[in-house]
Amino acid sequence: MPSIYEHTYARSLADPDAFWTEAAEGIDWTTRWSQVLDGSTPPFYRWYVGGRLNACYNALDRHVERGRGEQPALIYDSPVTRTIKSFTYRELLREVALFAGVLRELGVAKGDRVIIYMPMVPEAVIAMLATARLGAIHSVVFGGFAANELASRISDAKPTVIVSASCGIEIDRVVPYKPLLDRAIALATHSPAWCVVLQRPQAAADMIPGRDIDYAAAMANCTPAEWVPVAATDPLYILYTSGTTGVPKGVVRDTAGYLVALFWSMKNVYGMEPGEVYWAASDLGWAVGHSYLVYGPLLHGNTTILYEGKPVGTPDPGAFWRVIEQHGVRVLFTAPTAFRAIKRDDPNGDFIRRHDIRCLRTLFLAGERCDPDTLHWAEHQLHVPVIDHWWQTETGWPVGANCVGLGALPVKPGSCTTPVPGYDVRVLDEAGKEVRPGETGNVVIKLPLPPGCLPTLWNNDAGYERAYLSRYPGYYLTADAGFKDEDGYLWIMSRTDDIINVAGHRLSTGAMEEVLASHPDVAECAVVGVADEIKGEIPLGLVVTKAGVNRSHDDITRELVALVRERIGPVAAFKVATVVHRLPKTRSGKILRGTVKKIADGVPYPMPSTIDEPAVLEEIAIALAALGYPKGA
Ligand code: COA
Ligand code: AMP
Repeated sequence: MPSIYEHTYARSLADPDAFWTEAAEGIDWTTRWSQVLDGSTPPFYRWYVGGRLNACYNALDRHVERGRGEQPALIYDSPVTRTIKSFTYRELLREVALFAGVLRELGVAKGDRVIIYMPMVPEAVIAMLATARLGAIHSVVFGGFAANELASRISDAKPTVIVSASCGIEIDRVVPYKPLLDRAIALATHSPAWCVVLQRPQAAADMIPGRDIDYAAAMANCTPAEWVPVAATDPLYILYTSGTTGVPKGVVRDTAGYLVALFWSMKNVYGMEPGEVYWAASDLGWAVGHSYLVYGPLLHGNTTILYEGKPVGTPDPGAFWRVIEQHGVRVLFTAPTAFRAIKRDDPNGDFIRRHDIRCLRTLFLAGERCDPDTLHWAEHQLHVPVIDHWWQTETGWPVGANCVGLGALPVKPGSCTTPVPGYDVRVLDEAGKEVRPGETGNVVIKLPLPPGCLPTLWNNDAGYERAYLSRYPGYYLTADAGFKDEDGYLWIMSRTDDIINVAGHRLSTGAMEEVLASHPDVAECAVVGVADEIKGEIPLGLVVTKAGVNRSHDDITRELVALVRERIGPVAAFKVATVVHRLPKTRSGKILRGTVKKIADGVPYPMPSTIDEPAVLEEIAIALAALGYPKGA
């Protein structure tokens, strides 16, 4: 007899209309849809056409109307400011409606964009929901990005208003945000009409009269705004993510499909019951922060935790266990890198035993493949199921997971288990033929993608088609390589493009190469992701200087490290670079980045048959050895 999972999965593909009609009952609509799936203009598909609703109403108002008003909706836990503050659904709704009033007074209306560049403070969540309340479109930019990256997002999204704060706090370091914001606006090709700035006590921001507005003052002088119904297919947000060039891609999330998919996933993927506490220890600036810190838990009537801290250092590797115990967390979602950091500082789990974490039912990990060692360590220390699950900014919710709400399947360490209902995942060879079980190929999803996944890129349908839909017509290209085993389990092993995963953060090596190449002394360069014990991967740069440059190599590499930090941001974690005489290339001039990575990681590699000058690899190995690569050799 098929399991509940197998039955549900089969039904989702055999009759998607019926499956997603049923799932849509979890959401409140002002107008029901006339068509579940509109496939009239392939490869573009739209869900719930004709429907109308509001995301903020579904996340807040309806819970207050139905008796959940006094339940905590959001718990802000900030070890870096020694603050814990809880907002009930009623309180959060009040703040959100007021801030929606502020935005409305500043001219924000349905369809306008609001950029949110903030640290992990409740006002960031409030700004997201307030934007949604007005039917406007938010675009949250991660605080660890530099002014340049923020500028490119401002130029593309053309926001009416930017909401920001005076500073973020990185463990014990105050990071002023306002100078970055001012610089970004100066660099961008578009200027917002207004910036609303939250003044935090740790740093005061200089305000520009006529443009900058104090958050607290604005809130004190406004009237709350009602929610505005939008079309099911209207965008809820734009989230920029690294593409294969320096230009970020504006992933569009439409409203209804996303709300339906998230609501469905809370119970069926994560096994949550309304009223329980769910904690996604991620930043609001990432897809996980959008889907499982804000919208998913709130749509489902859960309590969500907003944690302004790190897994270690705020103050110690027991931070996660303290939060779990103190707030009664049932499900924790984080990245494997966080567990590697905890394991490094507390290998025997001594800090875990100082806390009563029996409330914790399941740990979910995503953002990068969870290495079996980390998975075993977490299982052994926590005594709860540890579930690796796979998804992307583009999909907005998990593609491959062990759906515990549908009955957990046996865990295979290193695999994200099976495709989530709604996703028809295939593995194709270069010619587009499905490979046999166990054979590695390009992981794709047969169109249409289920609700919740990106319908397009912001103002760039052609770019959407080019990047995702053109390689294999009829399929969405995930740009991940992997295989399905004999049991139908998915194994997602690596990217097929230049994206690397640094501490669960998605970064483009191509973008870093663009920065290195802009240095006046650099003739050519390559950036590869090399293995790192904690962050999974870190970028490493190799540069060849222009003829006649005879400055100290140390000075040049120091400048390169500073340049990447300044242009992309500290989150790139670009700290290692070296000057070499030449780069290994094929006879047609392609840099052999994969081979460089293997040398740095100490992985055996065959001599590439197309290599131009094999001796270069030896030079590279010597240069990498001088930097300590491969590690532990
Ligand atoms: N604002 C400003 N700077 C930021 C920042 C922010 N919001 N977030 C990170 N940075 C800075 C850090 O301070 C650090 O700066 P440094 O080079 O001066 O030390 C740099 O960016 C790199 O940050 P990070 O990758 O977070 O490394 P870390 O060494 O500070 O912490 C981990 C390592 C593993 C503890 C941390 O990355 C972590 O908790 N990761 C979880 C991953 C995650 O949330 N993934 C999302 C998907 S689930
Ligand atoms: P992001 O868009 O930042 O969420 O990054 C998505 C990419 O991270 C995916 O395309 C994968 O390459 C990788 N990834 C995320 N989660 C997993 C996982 N559980 N297993 C393997 N790779 C993952």
